Amino acid sequence: MTVKKPWEGRFKEQTSSKTEFFTESISFDKALYPYDIQGSIAHVTMLAQCKILSDDDAQKIISGLNEVKNELEEGNFTFNSSDEDIHMAIEGRLTQIVGDVGGKLHTGRSRNDQVAVDTRLYVKDILNETDKLLEKLLATLVKVARENIDVIFPGKTHLQAAQPVLFSHHMLAYYEMFRRDRERFSDLMKRVDVMPLGSAALAGTPHPIDRFITAKLLGFSKVSENSMDSVSDRDYLIEFCSASAIFMMHCSRLSEELILWVTSEYNYISLSDAHCTGSSIMPQKKNPDVPEIIRGKTGRVYGNLINLLTMMKSMPMAYNRDMQEDKEPLFDTAKTLLGVLDILPDILEGMKVNREKLKGISEEGFPTATDIADYLVKKNLPFRDAHHIVGKIVAEAEKQKCYLKDLPLNILKSYSDLIEEDIYPFLTVEGSINSKASYGSTAKEMVLKRLQEL
Ligand code: ARG
Repeated sequence: MTVKKPWEGRFKEQTSSKTEFFTESISFDKALYPYDIQGSIAHVTMLAQCKILSDDDAQKIISGLNEVKNELEEGNFTFNSSDEDIHMAIEGRLTQIVGDVGGKLHTGRSRNDQVAVDTRLYVKDILNETDKLLEKLLATLVKVARENIDVIFPGKTHLQAAQPVLFSHHMLAYYEMFRRDRERFSDLMKRVDVMPLGSAALAGTPHPIDRFITAKLLGFSKVSENSMDSVSDRDYLIEFCSASAIFMMHCSRLSEELILWVTSEYNYISLSDAHCTGSSIMPQKKNPDVPEIIRGKTGRVYGNLINLLTMMKSMPMAYNRDMQEDKEPLFDTAKTLLGVLDILPDILEGMKVNREKLKGISEEGFPTATDIADYLVKKNLPFRDAHHIVGKIVAEAEKQKCYLKDLPLNILKSYSDLIEEDIYPFLTVEGSINSKASYGSTAKEMVLKRLQEL
C-alpha cells in the first residue's frame, strides 16, 4: 500500500521505491519513538495553552498519541518503509486513529526541530544513565584500591621497571581518568539541555507559540536562541561522541593492562572465569575476551566521532538531509558506552591480584636506584652527580647479580663516602614507596588520604 506523502501537493510523480529505500531512516530512528511522542504531547499541550488548538482537539491528539505509544511498546505497530522516518510514521498512524484532527499536530513545528528535540531528549537520558554507571565504576575502583592497599606494584615507564608503587595508586590513576570522564559528560549536559522545538523548519513560526512552556513540559532548563542554529546544531552529539571516545581511550588503556597482566609471562592478576572464554582447539587457554572486546570497541567509538565531525564539516545552514546520518553513530556510541560501563566494574571486582608475584617482580630491575640518588641529593650532592654514581652502583649490583639492598656498605661507600648505614631502609621497595613525600605520590599515607577523600 502506498502511504500518502505530506508533500504530495507539490509533486506530480510518486517517490520511486529506490528513493524511498535509499532515504528512509525509520529502520534506525524508530529507537527515538518514546522521545518523539513525548515531544509531540508537550507540543500539543503548549498549542492548547496558547489557544492555537482547542482543548478538545488537543485531548484527541494526546489520547491518539498515547495509543500509538502503546502499539509501539507492545510491538503492534506496523512499520512501513514508505513512512520514511519515525516522525512521519507516528503522525501517519495518529491520523489513522484520530482522523483529520491529527494533521493539526504539526502546527508551528517541522521535522527539523522535531528530530533535534528527540535526539536531545535521548542524549539527556543516556547522560543520566552514564553518570550512574560511572559512579559505580568509580566506587569499584575505590573498593579494589582499598582491598589491595598493601600490594606493591612494579611502576613502569617505557614498559620497563621504573619505581615501585602501590597497586592502589595504580588503580586510583584510573579513578582520576574516569572521574574526569564523569565530569566531561556532566559538563556537556548544559549544552544538551536546550529545547529547540518551535524553531520550525529554520525561521520560526508565525503562530503565537510559547516555547518556554514546551521546554518546561519536557524538563529542559533552556530554550534555544536562534531558530537556524536550533535545527542545524549537532555540536551536542559531537561532544557526546568526543567524551565517549576519551572514555573509551581510558577503558582501552586499562583493558590493555589487564590483558598483559593475565599472561603467563606477567601473571600479575587473574580474571574470574565468568569474564573469560576458552579456545575451541587449545584446552589450556583462558582468554581475557571482555577486555579485548572493550579495547576493540574503542575503534568504533573513535570512528563515530570522526564520522559526525566529517558529516558536519562544510554543512551550509540550516538543516540538510546529510544530518540524518547522525543517528547511527549516536546510537552505536551510546550502546557501546553503556555496554562497557555495565561490564567493566564486574571485571574489576572479579580480578584477583597475585601479591607474591607482584612483590617479587617489584624488586627486579633495580627500581630503588633513584632512591639512592635522592639520598645523596639530601646529603647535598647535585642530582646529576648522584645520578652518575648510582649508575655505577647499579652496574656493580648487576655484576654481582644481587639487589641494591644486598650490596654491603663498604661496596656502596666505595662509590660515595656520603653513603651510610641509614641508606638501607630506602633500598627496599616498601621504604622507597613510603619515602615519597610529594602531594599525589604513591606513599601509603598519601594514597590512604586520597582514599579517605573518595
Ligand atoms: N529523518 C530526518 C532526519 O533524521 C528528519 C528530518 C527531516 N527533515 C527534512 N527536511 N526532510 O534528519
